[in-house]
Amino acid sequence: MKILITGGAGFIGSNFVYYMLKKHPDYDLVCLDALTYAGNLKTLDEALKNERFTFVKGDIADRELVFELFAKEQFDIVVNFAAESHVDRSIEDPGIFLKTNILGTQTLMDACRKYGIKRYHQVSTDEVYGDLPLDRPDLFFTEETPIHTSSPYSASKASADLLVQAYHRTFGLPITISRCSNNYGPYHFPEKLIPLMIANALNDKPLPVYGEGLNVRDWLYVEDHCKAIDMIIHDGKVGEVYNIGGHNEKTNIYIVKKILELLGKSEDLITFVTDRKGHDLRYAIDPTKIKNDLGWEPDTMFDDGIVKTVNWYLENREWWETILRGEYQNYYEKMYGKRDII
Ligand code: NAD
Ligand code: TYD
Repeated sequence: MKILITGGAGFIGSNFVYYMLKKHPDYDLVCLDALTYAGNLKTLDEALKNERFTFVKGDIADRELVFELFAKEQFDIVVNFAAESHVDRSIEDPGIFLKTNILGTQTLMDACRKYGIKRYHQVSTDEVYGDLPLDRPDLFFTEETPIHTSSPYSASKASADLLVQAYHRTFGLPITISRCSNNYGPYHFPEKLIPLMIANALNDKPLPVYGEGLNVRDWLYVEDHCKAIDMIIHDGKVGEVYNIGGHNEKTNIYIVKKILELLGKSEDLITFVTDRKGHDLRYAIDPTKIKNDLGWEPDTMFDDGIVKTVNWYLENREWWETILRGEYQNYYEKMYGKRDII
């Protein structure tokens, strides 16, 4: 079996590479990644030592490069993680989100049509459903919840998600789609809530909480996401959408306080800042379908996962400190320098 993993130098994609190398000792994996600011070859150091793993630098929207790669490798399965993934960046500059997330997906699927494929899997997101109200804890996203997006990021992911369904219906492409809740764990780029707060706390810098910190996310340890995708590409039904989430809903302020507690740092570091534009209130997944149809359940609950994650950041300081020393400083100043303290 030969699998193309796009975006494998990013957070979830790299975790998936390691998960698959371990789980399937007879599979060959090829990673296609453009190495944007979010891609990091250091993350793949160990994988690169494995002869079953190949890395190719390239853009999923580069038709010539993608078609050449498909012609050469004759993939059995494609798992598309490659994307621009940060909501705040999409608010500043939507264009690249449309190019990578929509046109990149189209390019990959066109190559699948031309060269043949057993399965194309699209890594979508629960953000395609928009948000749920904070005062209705009884409501959850099911696969039937209407698509209703809020940010340029989620709109681009929803467009791709719909395009994947269209390629199935129109061209008979054998696809599956997963819509997962927020992930956390090793190799998470420090622009996102959990790694950003860990890094700032360790550097005794203010922790910028948007608004009142009452927005809710449904956190899933990244390895559980990888396990779900592995199950879907092998046993999932062609044409189907699967929600992935483990009922670990937490407010942002709970998470920030938990990180400070684990690191033994003062809550005085918490700084409430201007809210994100269009900020989604609550995400919450109903995972009944993937549980009933494929037997998937998460192995790691939040209280254990957050300890593992904090420890990983403590033990791998070089990985994230290198990022913090680079272009990230300009990003941080641009994003947070102008945010008022409230
Ligand atoms: P990430 O930003 O950490 O990594 C994205 C990777 O894609 C990087 O390695 C980057 O270099 C690569 N990439 C970007 N543009 C590319 C292009 N044009 N061609 C080739 N490679 C390109 O993202 P992540 O958090 O690992 O998310 C991976 C996927 O999972 C995304 O599709 C995202 O929408 C989805 N997802 C993420 C979460 C989450 O909580 N992080 C939750 C649900 C779904
Ligand atoms: P994020 O990690 O960007 O994921 P997403 O927006 O895709 O859910 O943000 C998670 C939550 O944390 C979200 O409600 C926004 C909030 N947040 C902050 O309060 N401060 C921050 O500096 C960041 C990056 C996020």
